[in-house]
Amino acid sequence: MARRILITGATSGIGLACARVFASHGDDLLIAGRRTTLLESVKVELTTEFGVRVDTIVLDVQQREDVVAKIKPAIEAFGGVDVLVNNAGLAQGLDDFQDSAVDDAVTMIDTNVKGLIYVTKEVLPFMIGQNSGHIVNMGSTAGIYAYPKGAVYCATKAAVKTLSDGIRMDTIATDIKVTTIQPGIVETDFSTVRFHGDKDRADSVYAGIDAIQPEDVADVVYYVTNQPKRLQISDVTIMANQQAAGFMVHKK
Ligand SMILES: NC(=O)c1ccc[n+]([C@@H]2O[C@H](COP(=O)([O-])OP(=O)(O)OC[C@H]3O[C@@H](n4cnc5c(N)ncnc54)[C@H](OP(=O)(O)O)[C@@H]3O)[C@@H](O)[C@H]2O)c1
Repeated sequence: MARRILITGATSGIGLACARVFASHGDDLLIAGRRTTLLESVKVELTTEFGVRVDTIVLDVQQREDVVAKIKPAIEAFGGVDVLVNNAGLAQGLDDFQDSAVDDAVTMIDTNVKGLIYVTKEVLPFMIGQNSGHIVNMGSTAGIYAYPKGAVYCATKAAVKTLSDGIRMDTIATDIKVTTIQPGIVETDFSTVRFHGDKDRADSVYAGIDAIQPEDVADVVYYVTNQPKRLQISDVTIMANQQAAGFMVHKK
């Protein structure tokens, strides 16, 4: 039976790859992101290719009132939710903390931490009501190993891991599962966004590295959501073969 999957940040990278893998297995999708045109093109692609239902929510997860106004009615129209992939997130800047922009810090905290809280608060009542569901939070190896010039981003991803652990504890009396996925270096638009559109600088991050591909992460997300009811995978850390910690990579 088709499951109902809500994915934030499904317009590119890991979120888009997750949407594709769930759809390829016949699951229905409720996809969210800010870029309306991309959301619509993902919808056309997945409905055409896989014949699944795809609903869209144009959503900036930083906007609390917007999240409150849009998520609940969207889930009701969609017919419920079985899996939430809290994937929307970003890094902004790569600077020594003392030189970093406070605006960048605010954007990262508002998106990666507060946005995840706003969305999860709207989704959890549905999961508690049906006594089932799976929340998959996109953390990062950056949440385990801080790296130079990334203090705030790393802190937001450490917060994602801690939020997952806390929510898992608070919902222990239910059959809801919570998983943190902690990928290392994944080749997506992530670095272009981090460097405010500087594509050459972004490309240099991946030069000489056989980076993880978004589809690799999506396969893991699909795997963790397809385990027996008795089994809950709490955390998965995924690194590139040439990676040994947060920013410790070996370039060939
Ligand atoms: N790439 C890596 O190396 C890596 C490693 C570990 C973890 N991660 C995490 O993986 C997640 C996905 O990143 P990615 O690598 O796939 O980068 P990406 O290609 O830039 O995708 C980021 C996604 O997040 C969405 N997003 C960003 N801000 C948003 C907001 N305020 N409201 C709603 N959606 C928002 C974007 O959609 P719109 O722009 O359309 O809103 C986009 O779909 C992030 O949480 C990131 O921290 C990435």
